[in-house]
Amino acid sequence: MRSVPLVLGVLASGRGSNLQAILDAIADGRCPARVAVVVSDRKDAPALERARAASVRAVHLDPRAYPDRVAFDEAVCRVLDEHGVELVCLAGYMRVLSGDFVRRYRRRILNVHPALLPAFPGLHAQRQALEHGVKVAGATVHFVDEGVDTGPIVLQAAVPVLSGDTEATLSARILTEEHRLYPEAIRLYAEDRLDLTGRRVTVQPPGNAGSG
Ligand code: GRF
Repeated sequence: MRSVPLVLGVLASGRGSNLQAILDAIADGRCPARVAVVVSDRKDAPALERARAASVRAVHLDPRAYPDRVAFDEAVCRVLDEHGVELVCLAGYMRVLSGDFVRRYRRRILNVHPALLPAFPGLHAQRQALEHGVKVAGATVHFVDEGVDTGPIVLQAAVPVLSGDTEATLSARILTEEHRLYPEAIRLYAEDRLDLTGRRVTVQPPGNAGSG
């Protein structure tokens, strides 16, 4: 059973605007969740500041203090466990999760990516889209599996690519959609309305919770 509100742990490496969108949606009553802890691999990540400003526990873990990725991820898991985290939200987290981490939180990790997956996974998705010359770009919220940006898609939103676009202007247009989609996806998860069959996610109507 999921708690009400759902207990979130957010992993972030940078600016933290998606974290902020989640915090704002929770504060506005649009997302029945609570951010219990924000973990960052970067000490100076503005995301940690945003967490503190919202009275959310902010934890920095330095990857250099651990022998390898598995050991670092175990430390992250310990922090998440200590806070009773039910859903892990990657929000600009620049590290690839170890297989152990993904298996431990299977179907309980979401990520937001600034492209219409499966197009343009990995780094600099907006630049990839511009260089490819696509006319439509967008944002995706997906479950995380062992690959990079390959997990089952929960929600997507498209935006146009305009002729004068730069990486910055396209990124800003996509980011607006990220900020809308991510809290919405968390809400659907919290309400147990995401049914996963194979790699297909079906959104159940309200009051008709699926198996998750
Ligand atoms: C977002 O564009 C997200 O899609 C990508 O990294 C960026 C993080 O931005 N994974 P922020 O730290 O949430 O502001």
